[in-house]
Amino acid sequence: ALMKLGMDRDDVSVEVLERAKSGFLGIGSSPAKVKVTYEAPDEPEEARVPIVEEAPAAEEPAEPVEEEPYVRVIDPAAPMVALTFDDGPGKRTGELLDALEEHRAHATFFMLGKSMGAYPNEIKRMKKIGCETASHSYDHPNLSKMDETGIRDQVDRTDQKLSEIIGEGASLIRPPYGAISDTMKASVGMPMILWNIDTLDWKTRNAEATVNTVMESVKDGDIILMHDIHTESVDAAVELIPKLIDAGFQLVTVSEMAAAKGIVLENGKSYTDF
Ligand code: NI
Repeated sequence: ALMKLGMDRDDVSVEVLERAKSGFLGIGSSPAKVKVTYEAPDEPEEARVPIVEEAPAAEEPAEPVEEEPYVRVIDPAAPMVALTFDDGPGKRTGELLDALEEHRAHATFFMLGKSMGAYPNEIKRMKKIGCETASHSYDHPNLSKMDETGIRDQVDRTDQKLSEIIGEGASLIRPPYGAISDTMKASVGMPMILWNIDTLDWKTRNAEATVNTVMESVKDGDIILMHDIHTESVDAAVELIPKLIDAGFQLVTVSEMAAAKGIVLENGKSYTDF
């Protein structure tokens, strides 16, 4: 088809000449005021429109970009371990969450009900990035020395605090000191999660020692005990997360690991590893 383009803008004349090359028929005036008649090359009609139009209209504001839903695939046939952090949240728990999120790693936080109110954003973020929000009692008493009323009070107050922040209570508890009584088995109402790798991080307060303790003995199905209230432990965790991944371990929550291993966790029973 023949096209007639009336141009009087210097800034577009060069482009017009370029575009007209393949089908050029003639120019009727000076290059500054171009009149081009040419056999249009084989391009779609819309592609030519901007040449004769004034400056294009301002772009529509971009639609807000929706975040992709976070999906984590766990391979039950590949090695996995559960990093667990007790006694928090603490001042550096947010940094620990940064490291977990960066590596798409999950961990389980056994938190004290009394500490939750100071860290609502960290607790919400745990849930958002796939970590498990679990109970470590309200204020760390030895539950094995308490009666049923005392135990229930510790469990319920912690669940209440957690519910105020994320809308749900805990589904796992780690008994303080790992101490378990028959009364607890009957009344705690949750699976009791112990550990099989004790880093003794609270005692050494040495990140390198904690990292070495884990890397020297870690194997598939382990539950690793650390404390995110200690700054050296957060340093250790930040180092351990990529190290464990490099060593071929998936970092999963306790519940994810149980599920992947086909273990149904039962209330009142205790578990040290899977
Ligand atoms: Ni503790």
